Amino acid sequence: MKQHRIAVIGGDGIGPEVVDAALPVLDRAAARHGFGCAWEQLPYGADHYLKTGETLPDAGFRHLRDDVDAIFVGALGDPRVPENEHARDILLGLRFRLDLYINFRPVTLLHPSLTPLRSAGGTQGLSTADETPAIDFVIFRENTEGLYLGRTRTEGDAEVAEEVNTHRGVHRIIRAAFEWADAHGRTLVTMADKSNAIPAHRLWQREFHDVASAFPNIQAEHRYIDALAMELVRRPERFQVIVTNNLFGDILSDLGAALVGGLGIAASANLHPGRTGLFEPVHGSAPRHAGRRDANPVATVLTGALMFEQLGHAEAARDLERAVRHAIAAGIRTPDLGGRATTTEAAAAISAQL
Ligand code: NAD
Ligand code: IPM
Ligand code: MN
Repeated sequence: MKQHRIAVIGGDGIGPEVVDAALPVLDRAAARHGFGCAWEQLPYGADHYLKTGETLPDAGFRHLRDDVDAIFVGALGDPRVPENEHARDILLGLRFRLDLYINFRPVTLLHPSLTPLRSAGGTQGLSTADETPAIDFVIFRENTEGLYLGRTRTEGDAEVAEEVNTHRGVHRIIRAAFEWADAHGRTLVTMADKSNAIPAHRLWQREFHDVASAFPNIQAEHRYIDALAMELVRRPERFQVIVTNNLFGDILSDLGAALVGGLGIAASANLHPGRTGLFEPVHGSAPRHAGRRDANPVATVLTGALMFEQLGHAEAARDLERAVRHAIAAGIRTPDLGGRATTTEAAAAISAQL
């Protein structure tokens, strides 16, 4: 039986709780599809940092880069570490150092009751549980550049932060979005920037036109990020693939999550084809929920599905998504989705559907 070696960083707050609940669900899905996961638990996070002063040591980084098939992360962020330096080193550090330039964040309505939009489930023909959901798009967030590089300096009374946009970096994320659309039968790619106010974003316009011309069967459209935010709330069902920079993608992913049920269900994958990927829910450590046993494990389970897909087990991924839909439809939900289930009860309900 194929065994995948997977590093697990539960991290902080609700991170370890949702990971502990999700791993048995992933084990069961894997077993049903003829493979296994050897989970290797790593201690990195706020506790470890406060105890040892270590965020992600070099040897630990090399191990993650060279020795495992995937990295599975809960969440990083702790109020005792006010500048979040451990999360910066571990999460952003891995994204940058592994050059995981694609942050892939699907937004899919799993059940009509999950969207807060007024028209949903009603007149606009949004779906019932077993149909293809009417809100179904993917955000391709650039993950290695932009303001996130942290190039800052002090000039007089100003704190100056540089936003980095390179030809190579912008080109490759736009190309990844088109290639994915092409491979998955999608016909529309929307690129969002702020080139009307930020001259450096004209680079996004040029690269977008350049890449789009190689995909004549895919409609390419542009939106300014502010207008896109509005349109996503008004007509989310018209979008298929959205590609944008690091910061805008971060913001849009929480907005997208809110359109389909919230951060409790939003999954993400940090990818560079051919390299070890890093898989994490979109949500953070939600410190106020830590220890309350009410965190939603769905985002983590669906993140596991993205990981299985990358590891070559697409059927196991589909099975997990189907099981999540059925558990939600059956009403076994944590409080963020209007239910009363605990973290472990919600995970067990998914497992039972596999
Ligand atoms: P957050 O995503 O942790 O939580 C925001 C709110 O979303 C929570 O108060 C809660 O109401 C809800 N929520 C999130 N996940 C949930 C779940 N699984 N189940 C139920 N409800 C859920 O965002 P925040 O409060 O802004 O950040 C907290 C910490 O997490 C900060 O330190 C931040 O930097 C960090 N963070 C880490 C990651 C990551 O590790 N990938 C992502 C985002 C934020
Ligand atoms: C995310 C998070 C991170 C980000 C934080 C914790 C640095 O919000 O993964 O969306 O901004 O990328
Ligand atoms: Mn975010």
